[in-house]
Amino acid sequence: MKKYGVNELRKMFLAYFQEKEHLVMKSFSLVPHNDNSLLLINSGMAPLKPYFTGQEIPPKRRVATCQKCIRTGDIENIGKTARHGTFFEMLGNFSFGDYFKSEALHFAWEFLTERVGLEKDRLYPSIYLEDEEAFKVWNEEIGIPADRIYRFGKKDNFWEHGVGPCGPCSEIYYDRGEKYGTGPEDVMGGEGDRFLEVWNVVFSQFNNDGKGNYTDLIQKNIDTGMGLERLAVVCQDVPSLFDVDTNQAMMTEIESLSGKKYLEDKTADVSFRIIADHVKSCTFMASDGIMPSNEGRGYVFRRLLRRAARHGRILGIPAGSLSKLSEKAIALSSDGYPELSEKKDMILRVISEEEDRFNKTIDNGLAILQGLKEDLQKKGEKLLSGEDAFRLYDTYGFPLDLTKEILEDSGITVDEEAFQQAMKVQRETARAARKSTNYMGRDDVYQNLDASLQTE
Ligand code: SER
Repeated sequence: MKKYGVNELRKMFLAYFQEKEHLVMKSFSLVPHNDNSLLLINSGMAPLKPYFTGQEIPPKRRVATCQKCIRTGDIENIGKTARHGTFFEMLGNFSFGDYFKSEALHFAWEFLTERVGLEKDRLYPSIYLEDEEAFKVWNEEIGIPADRIYRFGKKDNFWEHGVGPCGPCSEIYYDRGEKYGTGPEDVMGGEGDRFLEVWNVVFSQFNNDGKGNYTDLIQKNIDTGMGLERLAVVCQDVPSLFDVDTNQAMMTEIESLSGKKYLEDKTADVSFRIIADHVKSCTFMASDGIMPSNEGRGYVFRRLLRRAARHGRILGIPAGSLSKLSEKAIALSSDGYPELSEKKDMILRVISEEEDRFNKTIDNGLAILQGLKEDLQKKGEKLLSGEDAFRLYDTYGFPLDLTKEILEDSGITVDEEAFQQAMKVQRETARAARKSTNYMGRDDVYQNLDASLQTE
């Protein structure tokens, strides 16, 4: 199998679907349009929702995209697992009332086996429990033996996201072999790293009203999503997302800035990966006009950039280096996203200004922490309150790990339980605020728009 690069695979996917009469559309902005339910675009289908529901007419019934996406739900896992990143690109082919199950599965199979050249014997499809139609396509039309087709329940093989278009799905897994794991979790559909889910083909035919009632959409649709970096992991036979060609180039850059080697020390490796991933997310966010701030998308930007800066400090990268890494990310991704080069000066300025601001904040935080430490020492106490640690975190952007690290030398620990409690209260407040909007955004406003209105 040829080890195609990330930029090559993106082109191959879009060219394949263009051949199959799809309209190749540019990635949509990371900022959702007319959809208050999402802070950031998190899948290929998200910007296309009105085409699935029939609220809008698509420019063509067959569309393919490579969509830039950001997901921060698994932020604690970044750098620790093979498959989590905040930034990723999702390859997708979509049918709005055009082809359905059979063609969609044939396309996926042909692309993976004939174009990318993945070994058929390493591929395993999964289907929704009672989806006999999908079973027949895999078994009778494509020729996969019945015992290699796995049936999973709603949790794994029914794709939905709150209110909106949804349906059963069929996923394609790739067996990377025993070298990537032999534990009990390394089974089809398990949590291990051996079997990697590469493609999700959703038969998007229902609308969920959010109360568990499913009604048929006015048309049957196809919504597929394949992580570009995951496809590259499989194709290049590398351990994780962070080892594919483009991310490898980021690691080399971090090595030269830090003087440390990637893959020599497990703790440092996590920092390498966090920096590479978060700088990439921030680079793309800045290119879409998102500016660091204390709320909404701006806060996601700030949080990721500060996390990258903190891990930069841990690795000993000189202050002000994140814009150099962003420059590298721009060079690596401009092939697919020319807007990165066009907006390079602006992106680098936003990143370096935020990094400077953090460096100043961190100095303020250090002064405050020094004061708190001296107070405790005077009183002969050894525990910093969770409230103080949370104030340092929340108001001064001062991460808990750093607080702990600094206090460690003086034998002072942090009341982490109280810190987590303060964090929980903040999260619940944020979640409650999010719940007041629905998945499709403000439908009342959206549906009543004058259809003749144009947007640029
Ligand atoms: N909507 C599905 C996903 O995000 C397929 O695109 O996985």
